Amino acid sequence: MRQILVAGNWKMHKLIGEARQLASELTSRLTGLNASVTVVLCPPFTALAEVADAIAGTGVFLGAQNVHWEEKGAYTGEVSPSMIKDAGCEYVIIGHSERRQYFGEIDETVNRRVRAALHAKLKPIVCVGESERQRDQGQTEAVIIEQVRKGLVDLNAEGMGHVVIAYEPVWAIGTGKNATPQQAQEVHALIRGLISNTFGESIASSLLILYGGSVKPGNAGELLAQPDIDGALVGGASLEADSFEGIVRAGVAVVSE
Ligand code: PGA
Repeated sequence: MRQILVAGNWKMHKLIGEARQLASELTSRLTGLNASVTVVLCPPFTALAEVADAIAGTGVFLGAQNVHWEEKGAYTGEVSPSMIKDAGCEYVIIGHSERRQYFGEIDETVNRRVRAALHAKLKPIVCVGESERQRDQGQTEAVIIEQVRKGLVDLNAEGMGHVVIAYEPVWAIGTGKNATPQQAQEVHALIRGLISNTFGESIASSLLILYGGSVKPGNAGELLAQPDIDGALVGGASLEADSFEGIVRAGVAVVSE
């Protein structure tokens, strides 16, 4: 049976009270969901513990939006793997394009974070994606190959078995202009092929590859119906219960087919 994972990336939105309200609303709407659909909520750091409390025992998972690679020390402003685990996280988004664009994230630091997260038994959601210019210049494949390869350096098959990859074309994030199901499927198949070459067929076939970039209830079904699209990383549409529920339900419809 197909597995689908839908993660909500709340980015820098929601005060603690608002986060609790949205999490509680979602869990009450999404209880008793098909077990093949995993839902992960990724609020800002300040709301992690509150959301953990709101979703406790519901089967919905918690994720952070970043993590540092060191366990502790003089790293002002950073948050360690054991800190986010302590707050209730099982997942962590790493290498989001906004981190790459605005905060100097590079493939080497993505890799450090991924390895530290795995060491702490967290599941990293590793984001890759080309810019509009790179796509226009025909560099999509090369960019994705490089980001995937460098981001996953020195992982063994056991570690890779806990990694989730998110393909998020930068030009589709927050723009309302999603990749077509065919465009996304093409890149997802490329990623699965890369993982298969390095880690073997069985790790590659169980790998969850999420699509992100303007996913909405109206386009989620056709995206998730693609053979290599195993879920969605949702930004804007994860901030409202109606739209996020709609996307999760599109996932349920796909696995139930
Ligand atoms: P979007 O963001 O759904 O608002 O396009 C996706 C993301 O950045 O993860």
